[in-house]
Amino acid sequence: MGKAMTMGDRENDARAAMAADLALRFGEAVPVPPAGAGGLDPAALATLARIAGRSSNRRYLDRPVPPDLLRLLLAVALSAPSKSDLQQADIVVVSDPAKRAAIEGWLPENLWVKSAPVLLVFCANNARQRAIHDLRGHPYANDHLDPFFNATLDTGIVLSAFIIAAEAAGLATCPISAIRDEAEKVSDLLGLPPHVFPVAGLGVGWPDSKAPISPRLPLSLTVHENTHAGADVAAGIAAYDSYREGVRPFPKQRDVARFGEVHPYGWSEDKARQYASPQRPGFGAFVRARGFRLE
Ligand SMILES: Cc1cc2nc3c(=O)[nH]c(=O)nc-3n(C[C@H](O)[C@H](O)[C@H](O)COP(=O)(O)O)c2cc1C
Repeated sequence: MGKAMTMGDRENDARAAMAADLALRFGEAVPVPPAGAGGLDPAALATLARIAGRSSNRRYLDRPVPPDLLRLLLAVALSAPSKSDLQQADIVVVSDPAKRAAIEGWLPENLWVKSAPVLLVFCANNARQRAIHDLRGHPYANDHLDPFFNATLDTGIVLSAFIIAAEAAGLATCPISAIRDEAEKVSDLLGLPPHVFPVAGLGVGWPDSKAPISPRLPLSLTVHENTHAGADVAAGIAAYDSYREGVRPFPKQRDVARFGEVHPYGWSEDKARQYASPQRPGFGAFVRARGFRLE
C-alpha cells in the first residue's frame, strides 16, 4: 500500500503542475516560488495554478447551471475594478429560447454556442452615466472617444472576472466576439438603448473535457522593464511559431484559396492571413450610430 499524501505532497504536486502548465504555455520555465517566506500559501497556489492552466472550452455537458450559482458568478464578476467607479459594464443573460436561437443563427462559424447551457452578452454602458447628468442637472462634457474606451475596458475586465470566477467554480467558458458581426441585430434583439453596445458574448457550461492549453507569446515579447522593447519582433515570433507548431499546430490553414497551403504554418502566418481580410469594418459606424463620438 502506498503512503497517504500529506498536505506538503499536495502542495508540491500543485507547484509542479503549475510550473509544467506555464512551461507549456510560454515555452520557457517560469519559476514558482517555494512555500514559506515570500512564497505562496496553498490557497494562493491553487488560485494561480488554476489560472495558469486555464483554457477556453467550447464543449459542454448537457447539464444546467443552477440559477443561484449563475447569480453568484454575475455578482462576483461585477465586483471587478471599475474606471473612476463609473461602473459602465452590464451583463445580459440570454435565457429566452427565441432570442438564443436568433443569436445562434447569427453565429454560423460558432456552432458550439448552441450547446452552451448559458449565454451571456457583456455590454459596455455609457448610457447610465449620461442619464445621471440629466438627473443631477450637470452638463455632460465628455462626448469623445475616452468614455467609449473606458466603458469597453470596464466590460472587458468584468468579462475576465466572470471567466476566472466561473472556472474556479468548475465551469467552462468561451468568449464570443463574433456576436459583433451582427452588433446592430444583437443590440435591437436585446433592447440595448443608445450608448450601450455588445462587447462580447460568453458561453458557459460544465466542461465535457479539459480543453488543451493554448501557448502564448514568450514573455520576452510581452513583458518589458522600464522601456518597451519596440517593434523588433522577428526573432521572437519565429521562435514562437516553431514552438507552437511543435506543441499545438493549427488544425487547418486559413483561407487556402487565397494564400495556398504552406509548411510550416505558424501562428504568425495564421494571424497575418486573418487580418489580411477586414474584420467588422462597420463597427465604427455602428457605435457612432449608437450615439458615440469617437474623436
Ligand atoms: C474578447 C474575446 C473574444 C473571443 N471571441 C471568440 C469567438 O467569437 N469565437 C471563439 O470560438 N472563440 C473566441 N474567443 C476565444 C479565443 O479564441 C481564445 O481565448 C484564444 O484562442 C486563446 O485560447 P485560450 O483562451 O484557450 O487560451 C475570444 C476570446 C476573447 C478574449
